[in-house]
Amino acid sequence: MLARNRFLLLVVVGGAVLAIVSLSLQFLNLIPTTPIAEERLLQALDGGTGAGQGKSRKRVFPVLHTPDPNPVSEAYGYCNTPNRTEQAWEGHSPVDYKLLSVQVMIRHGDRYPLYYIPKTKRPAIDCTLSPSRKPSHPQLGSFISHMGQGGRGHWESTLGSVPRLPNHSACEMGELTQTGVVQHLRNGQLLRQAYKRHKLLPSDWSPRQVWVETTGKSRTLQSGLSLLYGFLPDFDWTKLTVRHQWSTLFCGSACDCPARNRYLEEEQRRQYRLRVADTELERTYADMARTLGLLTRQLRAANPIDSLLCHLCHGLPFPCVPAGEAGTGGCLTVGQFAVIRRQQLEDEVDRRRVGLYHKYAVLATHPYLNRTAAKMERVARGHEAGRRPRAGGEEVFTLSSAHDVTVAPLLSALGLEEAKFPRFAARVVFELWKSPATARAQPKKGAGKGERSKAKDGELFIRVLYNGEDVTFHTTFCRSHDRHAGQPLCPLEKFLSFVRRDMFRVVNATSYQEACYRRPG
Ligand SMILES: *[C@@H]1O[C@H](CO)[C@@H](O)[C@H](O)[C@H]1NC(C)=O
Ligand SMILES: *[C@@H]1O[C@H](CO)[C@@H](O)[C@H](O)[C@H]1NC(C)=O
Ligand SMILES: *[C@@H]1O[C@H](CO)[C@@H](O)[C@H](O)[C@H]1NC(C)=O
Ligand SMILES: *[C@@H]1O[C@H](CO)[C@@H](O)[C@H](O)[C@H]1NC(C)=O
Repeated sequence: MLARNRFLLLVVVGGAVLAIVSLSLQFLNLIPTTPIAEERLLQALDGGTGAGQGKSRKRVFPVLHTPDPNPVSEAYGYCNTPNRTEQAWEGHSPVDYKLLSVQVMIRHGDRYPLYYIPKTKRPAIDCTLSPSRKPSHPQLGSFISHMGQGGRGHWESTLGSVPRLPNHSACEMGELTQTGVVQHLRNGQLLRQAYKRHKLLPSDWSPRQVWVETTGKSRTLQSGLSLLYGFLPDFDWTKLTVRHQWSTLFCGSACDCPARNRYLEEEQRRQYRLRVADTELERTYADMARTLGLLTRQLRAANPIDSLLCHLCHGLPFPCVPAGEAGTGGCLTVGQFAVIRRQQLEDEVDRRRVGLYHKYAVLATHPYLNRTAAKMERVARGHEAGRRPRAGGEEVFTLSSAHDVTVAPLLSALGLEEAKFPRFAARVVFELWKSPATARAQPKKGAGKGERSKAKDGELFIRVLYNGEDVTFHTTFCRSHDRHAGQPLCPLEKFLSFVRRDMFRVVNATSYQEACYRRPG
């Protein structure tokens, strides 16, 4: 009975989960294969979240998320201020299912702006860590001292020289803040609680079982370490290798894809045309520039929304300048912020309608998804009935510490186009599950009386979660799965055929090679 109740809960939740308004990658100007990408991307903010209050597992999600008309309270959803209990549906399954592996992709936590608005004071934020400063976390002190022993870990390429903690009393551009560290300590702790009873990792886990990779930016490296520490407190440094992903797309040796860049350029042209046609936006930039005594194009180049968001997330008033000649002087306003934000929303809608970004995203994230699929298959093979487990085990926990320009295309490629733009410390989780093995009871016709019943392997399933919500049945590959007809989870096979073939249908191809190298027609 208990089993049945849990089963029903899962189904109801799965059906009610998706919320969502998303906001845009505005002025999308990303160079997809370099870690600088994010710096050229005007930050977008996403809608405020209605989910996540309270501790109860039985809480009900809002069925439909109506856009919050107040851009300021919406922006707080993007800030992801760590001041409330968060939901986490990771680790939920019908009873007796076994969790075989978990692969996590995160966006780094709260950071200092990447841009500076000329003539204004930089936001005063302290990027040193102190357990007595808010927001804090019970593990912050021990995290700081554990990072001090990081020299005992293994670091691929140049990662060993990247600082393992933010440590500037005046933050540097793009530096992770204490808020960012706390966000990921919390993510790690949530996952630890979610997976504890599934015994995902033995306490004496082997180096093979944990895979951590990051771009070369300090904010991603530090975010990854924060999550890992929350997940595996006081982990043994000597067992850890931190791997370097040179590309923000985590595409490894398969980054070359001419067609992807063509889609991206077309998408950028679409975005530019939409922006310059927006007279209210143009007027707003002109007003803001006049206030600050800048040329409009200087202000635009400074991506003011990135800096304004930082002010907002840290409770700092918007920048002001003293009155000067030619009518300059005054403060940037919430009204101006709201106009930029409104245009971002419209851009998001237009982006989805046109579909170029989705095509870009499919090609951008195939290599990562292909690797994710391959890992799942490897782990599953290691669990086949009758097979002796490999010494040291398979990679059961993978953490990829990334950027918004990594997570946003991943969501789009999976068909989660309604999902919110990745907030600070956003997380995407792929879980691999196996149903209980069934004993084959009836002997074959004509079989001798001595035949023993053989264990039949359980079946494999995938769950996909975004910021703790189960979004599996909103993905392209499992949207049409009838989970009320006996299978409460999404069969892994659907994900595999999506990654290996079906995802290329939107670009009229059947493989990555074909899609990337076909000559433009
Ligand atoms: C959390 O912080 C945000 C932003 O500072 C604020 O709007 C919200 O009311 C806070 N929530 C709680 C539960 O304190
Ligand atoms: C942080 O910087 C301060 C001042 O430069 C230094 O004394 C301290 O040891 C540093 N802490 C860490 C953990 O690197
Ligand atoms: C996808 O993964 C398979 C291994 O499962 C590999 O042989 C193939 O080269 C990969 N393709 C791409 C485009 O990364
Ligand atoms: C799709 O590709 C096939 C074979 O490459 C081609 O014949 C067909 O015209 C293409 N269709 C579209 C809509 O581009």
